[in-house]
Amino acid sequence: MTHQHPGRPLRRLLGAISRRRRHRLAPTLLLLLALAATGGAYAMVAPATQAQAGAGVPAAVVDEGRALFLKNCASCHGLNAEGTSNGPSLVGVGAASVDFQVQTGRMPAVQLGAQIQKKPNQFSEEEIAAMAAYIASLGPGPGVPSEEQLDYSGADAAEGGEIYRTNCAMCHNFAGSGGALTRGKYAPSLKGVTAEHIYEAMLTGPQSMPVFGENTVPPADKQAIIAFLKTTESEPAPGGASLGKIGPVSEGAVGWLVGLGGLIACAVWLGAKAR
Ligand code: HEC
Ligand code: HEC
Repeated sequence: MTHQHPGRPLRRLLGAISRRRRHRLAPTLLLLLALAATGGAYAMVAPATQAQAGAGVPAAVVDEGRALFLKNCASCHGLNAEGTSNGPSLVGVGAASVDFQVQTGRMPAVQLGAQIQKKPNQFSEEEIAAMAAYIASLGPGPGVPSEEQLDYSGADAAEGGEIYRTNCAMCHNFAGSGGALTRGKYAPSLKGVTAEHIYEAMLTGPQSMPVFGENTVPPADKQAIIAFLKTTESEPAPGGASLGKIGPVSEGAVGWLVGLGGLIACAVWLGAKAR
């Protein structure tokens, strides 16, 4: 066995790398490394979006929220909102989720089924804010959107339509009229839903809806989606009767029933005349 200089393997490795510098794939590899490095650096400096809503809320409000929670919600969500077999943990869901769920009347749930139904909300604004503050105090999660976030007056509805069609239309239908999902679930119609609830639904992703966080769909894009949904609500149907805007199925059905039915009626009438 010949004695090897300890520096030799290292030198050989460096040599191998520098030889491969001119390799066909080297620029691609370098680009990937650079991208990974920028991504990492961005993740480090990007602002934390999960505002700790509830910070700065008076302790008395949080206490009131806890009392309301124990009375109305703890039977399903647990005494510390840690979750039970009847309801999920609410630690970290944020004030936005409580605000959305209680204001739309989904919570407190009365009947558990494939999908919890909306019903008239039973709580005052203060009570909801207090429960939201209590839940927010348990762990960071998305806060209730501010007036500024909800202001969609300057948003581009046409651009919102594009974002809507790529992210939402597969469940809520291209015109926002809703649609059926698997296992008895459905994506509800978005007609008449307030800007606040649209924003909160995106922030919190209720039930089988994905979360569209502030990084993936930034506030300007959310405002554009809201502007789009608000224009579809007031838009007249340029093609005549909208047939509920549920798409080609209803159009096809009307085509068959009216069109084919009419043809059959004609045939019967002609046949009757010929006799
Ligand atoms: C009868 C049982 C029941 C009661 C009472 C109830 N919940 Fe729920 N809650 C559920 C279930 C089940 C879900 C999951 C719903 C789903 O995924 O469709 C849920 C979901 C939620 C969510 C959404 C969590 C998330 O992941 O974003 C919030 C917030 C919530 N509940 C708050 C409350 C509040 C506040 C009250 C009291 C005012 C309450 N709930 C009362 C059963 C209940
Ligand atoms: C994978 C299917 C799916 C996608 C994609 C989806 N949603 Fe949903 N969405 C749902 C379901 C299911 C519900 C009902 C949740 C419940 O009742 O708890 C819902 C509820 C909502 C609500 C609440 C409506 C109400 O009546 O209170 C709004 C608003 C909403 N979605 C907006 C959007 C927007 C905007 C997008 C696109 C950025 C989107 N959704 C993408 C499935 C989806």
